[in-house]
Amino acid sequence: MEGMKLIGFDENKTIKAQKERGKGKKNPFNEASWQSSNRISLDLTYLFDTPSDSSSITLEDIKDIAPQVIKAHRMLKKDQGDIYDNEIPMTGWQNLPEEITLTHLEEIKSAARSLSSRIDAFVSLGIGGSYLGIEATFKALTHTYFNQLSRDERGNAPEIYFLGQNMDPDYFRDTLDMLKGKVVGINVISRSGTTTETAIAFRILRNLLEKNCGQDAKDLIYVTTDATRGALEKLSKDKGYQAFSIPDNIGGRFSVLTDVGLLGLTMANIDIEEFSAGFKYMRNITMPDNLWKNPSLLHAAARHAAWLKGKKIEIVATNSVPLYGVTRWMEQLFPESEGHSGHGMWVSPSLYSEKLHANGQMVQQGERNILETFIMLTEHDNTVIIPHDKNNIDGLNFLPDKGQDMNSINRKVIEGPAYAHYLGDVPNMIIEIPRRNAFSLGEIYYMMERSVAISGYLLGHNPFIQPGVEDYKKAMFALLGKPGFEEKGKEIKDEISKMKKLRI
Ligand code: PA5
Repeated sequence: MEGMKLIGFDENKTIKAQKERGKGKKNPFNEASWQSSNRISLDLTYLFDTPSDSSSITLEDIKDIAPQVIKAHRMLKKDQGDIYDNEIPMTGWQNLPEEITLTHLEEIKSAARSLSSRIDAFVSLGIGGSYLGIEATFKALTHTYFNQLSRDERGNAPEIYFLGQNMDPDYFRDTLDMLKGKVVGINVISRSGTTTETAIAFRILRNLLEKNCGQDAKDLIYVTTDATRGALEKLSKDKGYQAFSIPDNIGGRFSVLTDVGLLGLTMANIDIEEFSAGFKYMRNITMPDNLWKNPSLLHAAARHAAWLKGKKIEIVATNSVPLYGVTRWMEQLFPESEGHSGHGMWVSPSLYSEKLHANGQMVQQGERNILETFIMLTEHDNTVIIPHDKNNIDGLNFLPDKGQDMNSINRKVIEGPAYAHYLGDVPNMIIEIPRRNAFSLGEIYYMMERSVAISGYLLGHNPFIQPGVEDYKKAMFALLGKPGFEEKGKEIKDEISKMKKLRI
């Protein structure tokens, strides 16, 4: 039997875009009309006055919060308030889109080109803020099965993998199998240089590269770390690795527009100038003080109003598989910044319509403590037509008869639940992303970064630190017997031995 031919299907537009990017084709991202047609929007229609909830969110709630939001926004612009980490105001991300230079972007591109031309596969090592933004952007803008495509279909980019974001030996080993027989280049990203997961992944890959390539291994290893301090910085100097730096005043989850994100994205031929232009465009939109025209301020106000009204869970759902990573990026940005002093909303990333057949029942009729945010992709890269069927056993001929394709149905995958969930007293908002491009991603990242920073002021604590994350690291080190943590390890084991046990 012959293999399947994709009869009736055009060339995949995502592959076409990858090939064009590989040949240096650019979107006209500096043109005002292109920018406005790619502007993301925020729609709060279904946020207010949910029908049967006596404590529904109202427009008055937003008006009441507005003075606090604007005050916070003004303080943020002036680097005032509880925004310091080790005496550094962690707000470098605010003006980064204005400060980043073409020369710097060219340096990144040149380093990426040099590595890309020598390797078959690239591995980005990192966790948290040193991982999620790169993976989200990469997945948003590339083919779902990127690594299974030919190099030509990938736009001459190497295969791209991620490691160092968990400690699962099977996942690690499976990924190594994908690298077997290939020339591999790596970028280890860690601001501190001491994050266990990333450091272990780096140690193993470095060891393998050195065993395979000897002295030449150093030309396959890039390091992205703190500019002046930390273990990785010293190691890269000692070994002669090419190093990239993370500014002192930008924390992990705010760092996708720094070298943390830029190098890995360039390895996949993603246009970092366009990406940076998207950040800059949204920065210009979100700097003015008018809350009603400023999506970051309105978004922060809406979420805070929801939180005050008992919404403790935010489902961030998308109808785009490639954009699911963006919802995961938000899962980090918001809880890691807001989760202090018993405050904050739990962010649950979700993919619709898949999840509507899983937790959809709970969303519609369960406990009314949910806010929902939809990340709706308007225009997909490809169009999928639904064929007419002469027997119409599934009763779906009305779709092609009415000119509906998979694309128009996928829009209803957001519009339907938005209305139904509103009726079920789940207030929701829709963020519409016109197309899958680097500009739109830059826009949403900047909008969210400013929103969560404002949220920190509203909740009354520093959104740029994460002392709670350190607690798990200390407990793990103690249980692993790391030198210096022996006392803590003994303490933990004693505590555990005194606990009531129930295990069956
Ligand atoms: O947002 C953050 O600061 C964290 O998620 C960090 O990015 C994460 O813990 C990784 O830290 P590091 O880059 O030091 O390895």
